[in-house]
Amino acid sequence: MAKIKIIIIPGSSRAASHNARLGKSVEAALRTLGAEPTLISLADYPMPILNQDDEAEHGVPENAKVLASLIAEHQGVVLINPEYNGSFSGLMKNTLDWLSRDVGLKVFKNRVFALAACSPGALGGIRVLAHARDNLVSVGADMITPQLAVGGANNAFADDHSLTNERAAGLLQSLCETLIHRAKDYTRQEPA
Ligand SMILES: Cc1cc2nc3c(=O)[nH]c(=O)nc-3n(C[C@H](O)[C@H](O)[C@H](O)COP(=O)(O)O)c2cc1C
Repeated sequence: MAKIKIIIIPGSSRAASHNARLGKSVEAALRTLGAEPTLISLADYPMPILNQDDEAEHGVPENAKVLASLIAEHQGVVLINPEYNGSFSGLMKNTLDWLSRDVGLKVFKNRVFALAACSPGALGGIRVLAHARDNLVSVGADMITPQLAVGGANNAFADDHSLTNERAAGLLQSLCETLIHRAKDYTRQEPA
């Protein structure tokens, strides 16, 4: 049987991003469970800030189309969110907004989504998870219940990408198991 494919999208393009590090933890956990993860960086898919005048003149940016096609090759998506003032990073929100445009770009309805966050603060970005869940439900995404906010990011990761906090490690395991289980209900598209 083909492996379940899951794409992992951190919402920070910062070189030393904690959320990208958490992406590696998710990647490792999914691989151990037998799935086929793809960890990307949004730095590879730059898009202008959405402006409907520009959209009317130039259409949806090529990078949004490329990213939508890549997502379509996966059954599941993990969005890993920096928390900026209690909500999304501009990078993540702008990317999701572009992905919600145009018939061919509406990638939300045919795959299952999980949410995670990571912050140097004690709460780990827990508030952005509620905003992100609300936002994704509004575009028709199927969401799993388990989620993960990793606090104290400076000391959260071991060299093998596992999480040092036992409770966070347990939540990561539960998120990945549930996502793989639910992703079996979805079919992915073959690369064009
Ligand atoms: C504009 C701004 C707002 C922030 N607001 C929050 C916040 O509300 N909660 C929080 O835990 N951290 C907040 N932070 C700190 C980020 O969690 C921290 O910079 C984190 O490292 C960003 O994620 P990254 O490492 O993946 O780039 C904020 C940072 C910035 C730049």
